Amino acid sequence: MTPPPPRCTSLGVPRYRISGPQARSGLPLQLLLLLLWTAADTQGHPKSGPRISAVWKGRAGKDRVDFGSAEPHTVLFHEPGSDSVWVGGRGKVYLFNFPEGKNASVHTVNIGSTKGPCLGKQDCENYITLLERQGEGLLACGTNARHPSCWSLVNGTVESLGERRGYAPFSPDENSLVLFDGDEVYSTIRKQEYNGKIPRFRRIQGEIELYTSDTVMQNPQFIKATIVHQDQAYDDKIYYFFREDNPDKNPEAPLNVSRVAQLCRGDQGGESSLSVSKWNTFLKAMLVCSDPITNKNFNRLQDVFLLPDPNGQWRDTRVYGVFSNPWNYSAVCVYSLGDIDKVFRTSSLKGYHTGLPTPRPGKCLPGRKPIPTETFQVADSHPEVAQRVEPMGPLKTPLFHSKYHYQKVVVHRMHASHGETFHVLYLTTDRGTIHKVVKSEEWEHSLVFNIMEIQPFRRAAAIQAMSLDPDRRKLYVSSQWEVSQVPLDLCDIYGGGCHGCLMARDPYCGWDQGHCVSIFSSQRSVLQSINPDEPHKECPSPKPDEAPPQKVSLARNSRYYLSCPMESRHATYWWRHGEKVEQRCEPGHQSPNCILFIENLTDGHYGHYYCEAQEGSYVRKAQHWQLLSEDEAKAQHLLGCAHALLASLWLGVLPTLILGLLVH
Ligand SMILES: *[C@@H]1O[C@H](CO)[C@@H](O)[C@H](O)[C@H]1NC(C)=O
Ligand SMILES: *[C@@H]1O[C@H](CO)[C@@H](O)[C@H](O)[C@H]1NC(C)=O
Ligand SMILES: *[C@@H]1O[C@H](CO)[C@@H](O)[C@H](O)[C@H]1NC(C)=O
Ligand SMILES: *[C@@H]1O[C@H](CO)[C@@H](O)[C@H](O)[C@H]1NC(C)=O
Ligand SMILES: *[C@@H]1O[C@H](CO)[C@@H](O)[C@H](O)[C@H]1NC(C)=O
Repeated sequence: MTPPPPRCTSLGVPRYRISGPQARSGLPLQLLLLLLWTAADTQGHPKSGPRISAVWKGRAGKDRVDFGSAEPHTVLFHEPGSDSVWVGGRGKVYLFNFPEGKNASVHTVNIGSTKGPCLGKQDCENYITLLERQGEGLLACGTNARHPSCWSLVNGTVESLGERRGYAPFSPDENSLVLFDGDEVYSTIRKQEYNGKIPRFRRIQGEIELYTSDTVMQNPQFIKATIVHQDQAYDDKIYYFFREDNPDKNPEAPLNVSRVAQLCRGDQGGESSLSVSKWNTFLKAMLVCSDPITNKNFNRLQDVFLLPDPNGQWRDTRVYGVFSNPWNYSAVCVYSLGDIDKVFRTSSLKGYHTGLPTPRPGKCLPGRKPIPTETFQVADSHPEVAQRVEPMGPLKTPLFHSKYHYQKVVVHRMHASHGETFHVLYLTTDRGTIHKVVKSEEWEHSLVFNIMEIQPFRRAAAIQAMSLDPDRRKLYVSSQWEVSQVPLDLCDIYGGGCHGCLMARDPYCGWDQGHCVSIFSSQRSVLQSINPDEPHKECPSPKPDEAPPQKVSLARNSRYYLSCPMESRHATYWWRHGEKVEQRCEPGHQSPNCILFIENLTDGHYGHYYCEAQEGSYVRKAQHWQLLSEDEAKAQHLLGCAHALLASLWLGVLPTLILGLLVH
């Protein structure tokens, strides 16, 4: 009598993409957890390699709302502390409210273009490009059929403020940046439609209007501007970040360079006819973001976020910069305003070899004194300082680099349950998702790790704008279709019980009374395991469910491998056969799986294999496999599957291996 046909499903296949305790926990579909083991994410450098361990998707109507029709350009305005967000679109301003625990609501205010006949369709539209608080109401500015204009929105009524050059561009995709500081307004938007094609940085309201010389920047792309109040009011600075064409035309040199420029806020222009309406205190420096260990350079600045010092020390304000390289890999570099200020105060000027005039270029003068013409001339012809601005830290290296093409960044400084400080980065990818990357401020050796991928939209689309509310712990994002409010403390998406919750290493989350909860929602102190050296041994049940043994039958002389997903960034994993450790994978291992290869199966290879994970003093069994000979399998009706299974397993491991080779 022949045995019944074998059922291969009983064998169990090592799971690659969907794995871990989370996959067993039966979560609702919307909160689907995926373990995206993207191998090439770890890039060799020990500090690199953010890795994603969970995916969040918002709920329609509650976390995200559709515009109704496509909005090709959106601008977003959110005031921290409120539960609403304003979005400027095409001829409309939307107000979205996201009340706690209720469905979101939307109101729209129409601001169609007020101008008469126009040529192309796009030209006739009024794309709102600027929203800003103004007294009781909101200032909204838009392209208005190529007649840039502003409106005041107060209490649901719209009042036209007429044509306002410099507040909005002529068409929505221009290189525009507008900075408000009290009564002062600065702008990079050109004021003439056909003249003056060279982009300038101007003061358009407040003290006398000034602009940058046309020779000090080459084809600039503006990224971010900020005002910094220094120790003395006359020393207050404007810093702005931009990219420009590299003046170095050496074929080895990168095409673009990233810069920070400084201006004195009190600049009154110069004394000569050439300098009278120009900034006299302009200087620029190169922003470096490169890793000397791996010799990787990231030249293209994508976005900047300024994180003020909690004690109000302007020098300790951190500048988080996202950069990319020609292959669209990214790096995050962190600078301090104190270092930037020092470079401008102390460096010599590039290409200028005689003694500097007094006052030295870039110096702010007290008492509204004009800058002497000689100082202006030297700075105007040598606007770049020789010294470069390098990242903070002893090694002056990126915080991390990654194969993802990151575009925007915001940073949340938060305190975990025992007061430890974390900087949590939210980075948008070119796939319309957000990565949550955690960096502890407490431990020198601490790793940077990517703990979550957030899918804020129903329709995958580029994230056009992002705004952080640090106090209410919310993130607002817009695409051309939707607006979404994302809570920062997303804890119920972590499965795997207490161990799964603590192993996620999410500083916003802890274990309390049988649930993974936000540390901010609980009155009691919750169980958190933040120190990577002392993991989750306090969990109520000391050991999570042990993995059941999985069986596979294998022919002699065949090849095989066993794979164990490395769920924790901090654990050491190994494969044990009897008493012998056959394969060891330390934290920071290249591949996201700890893989044991058996090149040529002999009798000694049969038997039980355990994948064990150790963090500090805590050891758990993550996987248990039993390799059976064909005779043993026959007794257990398992024969027949092994060959088919082997083929699929080799195919399964191929992507991992290829990615592994790519990152070397
Ligand atoms: C909230 O929105 C969802 C989806 O649009 C809908 O099914 C539900 O009935 C709404 N709830 C309330 C209270 O309006
Ligand atoms: C706004 O409108 C409401 C009623 O529509 C009115 O009570 C309130 O006084 C108005 N506020 C301002 C500042 O005009
Ligand atoms: C940077 O280089 C690209 C070509 O790769 C060029 O098109 C662009 O204009 C350059 N300048 C800036 C500021 O990005
Ligand atoms: C990098 O990304 C830009 C768009 O963001 C795209 O146009 C370009 O082709 C990409 N380059 C490579 C090498 O993938
Ligand atoms: C495996 O080992 C056996 C003997 O130990 C040998 O005959 C056989 O050629 C080997 N197979 C491979 C693929 O190396």
